[in-house]
Amino acid sequence: MSLNLSPKHQGHSAAERFGIIERPDLTCTPALLKETAHLYERVKDVIPAIEWPVHAPYVFHINRLKKERNAVILAHNYQTAQIYNCVADIVGDSLQLARDATRVDAEVIIQGGVHFMAETSKLLNPEKTVLIPDSKAGCSLSESITGADVRLLKQRYPGVPVVTYVNTSAEVKAETDICCTSANAVKVVESVDSDTVLCIPDEYLAMNVANQTKKKILTWKGRCEVHERFTAEELLAVKAADPSVEIIAHPECHPDVIAVSDFAGSTSGMIDYVKSHHPARVLLVTECSMASNIQASLPDVEFMKPCNLCPHMQRITLPTILDSLLMMTEEVLVDPAIADRARLAVELMINLK
Ligand code: 13P
Ligand code: SF4
Repeated sequence: MSLNLSPKHQGHSAAERFGIIERPDLTCTPALLKETAHLYERVKDVIPAIEWPVHAPYVFHINRLKKERNAVILAHNYQTAQIYNCVADIVGDSLQLARDATRVDAEVIIQGGVHFMAETSKLLNPEKTVLIPDSKAGCSLSESITGADVRLLKQRYPGVPVVTYVNTSAEVKAETDICCTSANAVKVVESVDSDTVLCIPDEYLAMNVANQTKKKILTWKGRCEVHERFTAEELLAVKAADPSVEIIAHPECHPDVIAVSDFAGSTSGMIDYVKSHHPARVLLVTECSMASNIQASLPDVEFMKPCNLCPHMQRITLPTILDSLLMMTEEVLVDPAIADRARLAVELMINLK
């Protein structure tokens, strides 16, 4: 990394371009509690009343500063309940966030999510300032593969199209024919004109795609450190204890886990399933923040929480978002030498009919 895509930004940091704002007083006053009461309503089932005074000053000042900075917050479904429900402007799975990033009017995008998501937003918005509250928010899948690895794969399998999961760096996307997310992986694989497809870097996602297509799928040894921990045995034990529990899994899980689940889909696919089926008890086999995020809008659904947290997603907090808005850090930049090719792979996916 790290030249900015936009010539107008070159040589000047975001802090220099926008200026730094002084840290506000974060004391929780009765007036501030009154101002944020409607937001607490959204999370009262998952955040105890005694904890709200810790969050309320951040929520209040983040929402105020977003207007001052002409900024929007894009938050992935795994962000904490207070981010997802109280300060985010747009929420969704990776595909929705990539699509919505192309429609953002604001000058500044704050990415509530991990680094590859912020890079995707930057690729699609080269003229905007994209900030990630903590640039160490990585992803085990993204870190499993480099651009050099993909070049070697292409040498080994000449002419085989490369479908790359969005959970990768821009450098990897640049070596790719087309990107996919968990929401559209089968559709993307079916769209490429070849009977053999390299589907990288998530081994389990690739195996799950292979179970839904006649094409030969080649893959890589990447794994999501959160989803690889779930086993079919533990899910069968949950079902044995209570057969009424619906089990909904993410396709980054092992195919054996998907086989014993009632439904598999992207994070938003999982949310939509619960909203439309209204199971009495449900186990979301994924990062456990998601259950808290949707609990408020589904009071009659009992969520069993697996408590597998993504340590990278958890790096994004209300204090780090506030710092981003005050100091205009940490800016996400993409090397222009790779940006055009990486953007093409993402846009081909977004425009796929
Ligand atoms: P979704 O695209 O389903 O939101 O998944 C992203 C992710 O990182 C899941 O671990
Ligand atoms: Fe990456 Fe897994 Fe975290 Fe998603 S949950 S960001 S795939 S490590």
